[in-house]
Amino acid sequence: MDDIIYRFGVSLEKSLIDKFDMLIRRRKYTNRSKAIADLIRKELIHTTWETGGNIAGAIILLYNHHKRELLAKMTDIQHDYQKFIVSTQHIHLDHDNCLEIIAVKGKADEINTLADKLISLKGVKHGDISFTSSKAIP
Ligand code: NI
Repeated sequence: MDDIIYRFGVSLEKSLIDKFDMLIRRRKYTNRSKAIADLIRKELIHTTWETGGNIAGAIILLYNHHKRELLAKMTDIQHDYQKFIVSTQHIHLDHDNCLEIIAVKGKADEINTLADKLISLKGVKHGDISFTSSKAIP
């Protein structure tokens, strides 16, 4: 079901609006309404993350697969958190390096701990997490 569109006026300094328009043009937005709605959603999702609500996301890990001990540790950690892991995709980037994409869903604080444990492992060259809402938002 579509939400009712509600119009409202916002008063801001012209210099701020000018900067905002420049920013959204660079990000390929064609109108302010979509850009503002996306900013609001971003803040709502960020608050969900900060307050330990339910999120969905992806943890990415870049590592050297020749370090056998690392692989065992990564697997152990993932088994400990298996109820938050939806799927894992492994990509062989080149002879040495692997990229792992772990799709996650559940409590933000648990997923944050999972991401921290994996990213801090010796041998992981880079890791990050990207998250969004796990349920429909307006
Ligand atoms: Ni690989």
